[in-house]
Amino acid sequence: MAATVFVLNGPNLNLLGTREPEIYGADTLDDIAGRLEDRAKGLGLAVDVRQSNHEGHLIDWLHEAQATGAKAVLLNAGAFTHTSIALYDAIKAIRTPVIEVHLSNPHTREGFRHKSYVGMAAKATIAGFGALGYELALDAAARL
Ligand code: DQA
Repeated sequence: MAATVFVLNGPNLNLLGTREPEIYGADTLDDIAGRLEDRAKGLGLAVDVRQSNHEGHLIDWLHEAQATGAKAVLLNAGAFTHTSIALYDAIKAIRTPVIEVHLSNPHTREGFRHKSYVGMAAKATIAGFGALGYELALDAAARL
């Protein structure tokens, strides 16, 4: 069976496509998931794309990634990126490599986005490439 990469998306990312498209682009999360599924097949992988507006779900899914032997996690934690010590701890608590993904580049935006608890624990970060960033992160995950 193909190794699975979890693609976990946090708050407000269910609104991609209509949410501040000048910042986040016109693609919906379903559009992104469809492209990731195609790309994963080409890489001999499977993706499991999920979204929740609730911090605890993201934590449970990080634990699940390890428990089920996922190859890697791509994590766009949305605004929890900048607030959640619990996500930091969850990433530290598992051995599954976590790649932080952002559509925008938080470092070029408001000061409160410059601190990333996720980034402090993640293996690597890809930010600022819009929806393409997810595909770049999947390519990177395939090579781990
Ligand atoms: C985001 C950046 C975060 O600062 C923001 O809160 C989001 C989206 C991104 O993908 O660019 O919800 O994670």
